[in-house]
Amino acid sequence: MDNPIIKFESWWQEALVDCPLRQKSAVCVSTIDKDGFPSGRFVDLKSANEKGFVFCTYFDSVKGKHIAHNSKTAMTIWWDHVGYQIRVVGTAEVITDVEADVFWQTRSRSAQLTTTAFDQSEPLVAEDDLKTRLQDVSTSFAEQPIPRPNNWGGYCIKPVSIEFLTFKESRLHLRELFKCKDNGWFKQLLQP
Ligand SMILES: Cc1cc2nc3c(=O)[nH]c(=O)nc-3n(C[C@H](O)[C@H](O)[C@H](O)COP(=O)(O)O)c2cc1C
Repeated sequence: MDNPIIKFESWWQEALVDCPLRQKSAVCVSTIDKDGFPSGRFVDLKSANEKGFVFCTYFDSVKGKHIAHNSKTAMTIWWDHVGYQIRVVGTAEVITDVEADVFWQTRSRSAQLTTTAFDQSEPLVAEDDLKTRLQDVSTSFAEQPIPRPNNWGGYCIKPVSIEFLTFKESRLHLRELFKCKDNGWFKQLLQP
């Protein structure tokens, strides 16, 4: 298959069948801080298509600040049950408000409440403060729809390269690297 986006979609679907993972769409997104240090954390992959790979978060989180300063990002996945590793390198762009609203509406009410209650990546004085904040937000929005916070939305990682590794017990892993060139994809096999 010479289109890495179609290949990604196919691998993702395959990984979701009888998936033993509790967090089935967790992927590691890495960003770069002002000193050039990389920083990785897991997020939920919301969608993947020819436009890129979308995850949702707070714009003023640590990762959001990193992206505002340097949009170069990476996304790494290991699906042990199928033996697939995927590495995406690209640039992150903020998705539109309309797109963010669609993702917001897919969230459960409890997820909307927790998202609204917290200032992600900010210091926490005591663990009990989480419950207090959540209670306050629940009371404020009792029996009302919860609007998407202005500081919450999504990023789309536009890929410049995507590598697929098929793990082999023999260690003869198959590595297929796709690089974006002249609006097309150039495929190269790599030694394991
Ligand atoms: C399985 C899993 C899924 C997660 N999904 C998200 C997510 O979709 N969005 C998000 O902002 N944080 C998510 N988190 C929390 C992040 O890993 C991270 O703690 C948080 O985004 C703060 O990162 P930052 O301080 O580097 O910005 C998830 C954590 C785990 C373990």
